[in-house]
Amino acid sequence: MIEYDVITHFFHLSNSKISYLIQIEEGNHLAHLYFGKKIKCYSGLRSYPRLDRSFSPNPSEALDRTFSLDTMLMEYPSHGNGDFREPAIQLQFEDGSTICDFRYQDYHIFDGKKDLPGLPATYADEKQAQTLELVLVDEVAKLRLILSYTIFKDAAVLTRSARLENLSNQTVAIQRLASSNLDFYARELEIIDLHGAWGHERQLERQIITQGTRVFDSKRGSSSHMQNPFVALVEPTTTEFQGEAFGCCLVYSGNHATIIQKDQYEQTRVVMGINPFQFCWNLGPNESFTTPEAILVYSDQGLNQLSATYHDLFNQHLVRGKYQGKERPTLINNWEATYFDFNEEKLMQIVDEAEKLGIEMFVIDDGWFGKRDDDYSSLGDWFEYREKLNGRLQNIAEKVHAKGLKFGLWFEPEMISEDSELFRAHPDWAFQVPNRSRSTSRSQYVLDFSREEIRENIYQQLTAILDHTDIDYIKWDMNRNMTEVYSAQLPPESQGEVAHRYILGLYDLLEKITTRYPDVLFESCSGGGGRFDAGMLYYMPQTWTSDNTDALARLNIQYGTSLAYPISTMGSHVSAVPNHQTHRVTSLAIRGNVAMSGVLGYELDLTKLTDEEKTSIQEQIVFYKQHRALFQFGRFIRLISPFEKNSCAWMFVSKDQKEAIAFYFRKYAQASFPLETLRLAGLDEAQIYESNGCEISGSEAMHLGLYIDENLTGDYATQMFYLKAK
Ligand code: DGJ
Repeated sequence: MIEYDVITHFFHLSNSKISYLIQIEEGNHLAHLYFGKKIKCYSGLRSYPRLDRSFSPNPSEALDRTFSLDTMLMEYPSHGNGDFREPAIQLQFEDGSTICDFRYQDYHIFDGKKDLPGLPATYADEKQAQTLELVLVDEVAKLRLILSYTIFKDAAVLTRSARLENLSNQTVAIQRLASSNLDFYARELEIIDLHGAWGHERQLERQIITQGTRVFDSKRGSSSHMQNPFVALVEPTTTEFQGEAFGCCLVYSGNHATIIQKDQYEQTRVVMGINPFQFCWNLGPNESFTTPEAILVYSDQGLNQLSATYHDLFNQHLVRGKYQGKERPTLINNWEATYFDFNEEKLMQIVDEAEKLGIEMFVIDDGWFGKRDDDYSSLGDWFEYREKLNGRLQNIAEKVHAKGLKFGLWFEPEMISEDSELFRAHPDWAFQVPNRSRSTSRSQYVLDFSREEIRENIYQQLTAILDHTDIDYIKWDMNRNMTEVYSAQLPPESQGEVAHRYILGLYDLLEKITTRYPDVLFESCSGGGGRFDAGMLYYMPQTWTSDNTDALARLNIQYGTSLAYPISTMGSHVSAVPNHQTHRVTSLAIRGNVAMSGVLGYELDLTKLTDEEKTSIQEQIVFYKQHRALFQFGRFIRLISPFEKNSCAWMFVSKDQKEAIAFYFRKYAQASFPLETLRLAGLDEAQIYESNGCEISGSEAMHLGLYIDENLTGDYATQMFYLKAK
């Protein structure tokens, strides 16, 4: 998959779908040539054209004035000695200088893929991928830079990361070390990003890339509701089904940035990695620093194909453990049913109903620990609130298990309440800048997870609960962003490391906990989808997609999320009406169809349901269980975008194309409405399917389409189509 041409000095990484070309240029500068559809038999003759451009400097060894780092497509650019664009690497040395000059020295190619120390990353064995390591050196600074590229067999995926090794006897300040840099020749491109807010995550927006620099980032200490660490670059004509698309996704849960710059010659640069804002890592002699991984995906068949590649990769090469590729249980969570106001009796009433409805797991959310009756206290006190629970958690676990349900529990391990035993004992364990006050958010502070003894305390508390309670599932929440990020243990010059050290500390704890409890299903959460990223998915196979459970709002949230993240990772619940976040009243049918388009759960007081509602929910659960593999692991295809239309549609097709389910949603009723047809996708053209009592060929369903029921009335209407091969 990876070849090096010794004559013309290029590297060609390719498989049946993609090519990635790197050229060793004059002076051993590393130039980027191409990323995209597979190039067969590359000639090796495509050096960047030579042209004398005014105000573009020439490196000292340049043979003439036509060679400049300022104009070339670069593989991993720096700033200050020729290239004036956004750099991938920015360093500062002890003498105050900031110039670095990395030149190609060597390469290694090996089968498989190495782990990234202390960081989440995709994995592959020797048969599934091949890796190229390019070794670059800065002779003056005595630094070695290793750029890693892994190409996956038969998948349009290339992963990248960088490692800087300090071979000098000086400390070097790393101000920026990107995971990936991608330069494009002059062409018209558009950028799609996933931004949002609490309860409004991953809203899809598409904009033309114009002159200047745009930054899509998070400075919030987490990957954030505000800006997901994912972007796609597309051609103006790219749709869900056709055209080129390039995805860049960062496997990281902290501050991140994707910097997009169109240069003076209409070339586009995309730099992705840890956010350089206020980042500064002091790399001492003999130390090394490894960046998180960036995952580049290419599609020549539109955005659906791009998503399918990410979905397969995440399901097969990112998610780990017992639940990798395994169907996830349906659950009932008590949060919106009771909030903090529950006792054992109330919980068991919900469990009784859940059992009758066929739900497979019961989860106690926030409020079971310390003295937690509201969100003002007890974070950090991970011991049972026995008065409230009427004894030990294990008693409840046993009762739940006796009913045939699994048992799950909520934690928020990274946080501390001022009103807690932990805070009274260790007021200095929360982030705080000396002599300054701390900001609260939801009345809580953030524990300094860069410190090992703090993580160890939390680890001991969690294991004390988990070792003595039969727990099948953990929801790991995180309900604020970081302020006053400062670690009491680190010297002043290392404070720029704290935000990243926090994330490394978090990953360290997650690795320990998930390894110690391999049978537990973990779902990550940050006030809903505030940390829905590939980093968390490496440890926890599911994420609570959003605190907003309103079916209409969820159309956009789940549509946007699906751009990168698979359905098997999206926690999705049916909740009560009026909806607690938007106060909208929608039918149980649309709430069910939207929630079934993820890992189905329920989050409402089951004891308050009418008999009719119970029957509908029972039917939803039976249907979901019957088709769970199709929903969670089938091919997901977006058909109509709620960001563009008054309707939305998507579908699931089994890998063998024998079965499919499509959901159509109409947001608002309209007088004199147009008759709509829904053209399906991904079916077998020649296959005859049975659908709603009729026989229909795959080609008819895809090209002629299916009629949307003309009697579908009212706001928030929905229709389901089920197709089974004859
Ligand atoms: C935020 C989560 O997203 C909710 O589902 C719930 O667990 C609350 N936190 C509990 O405090």
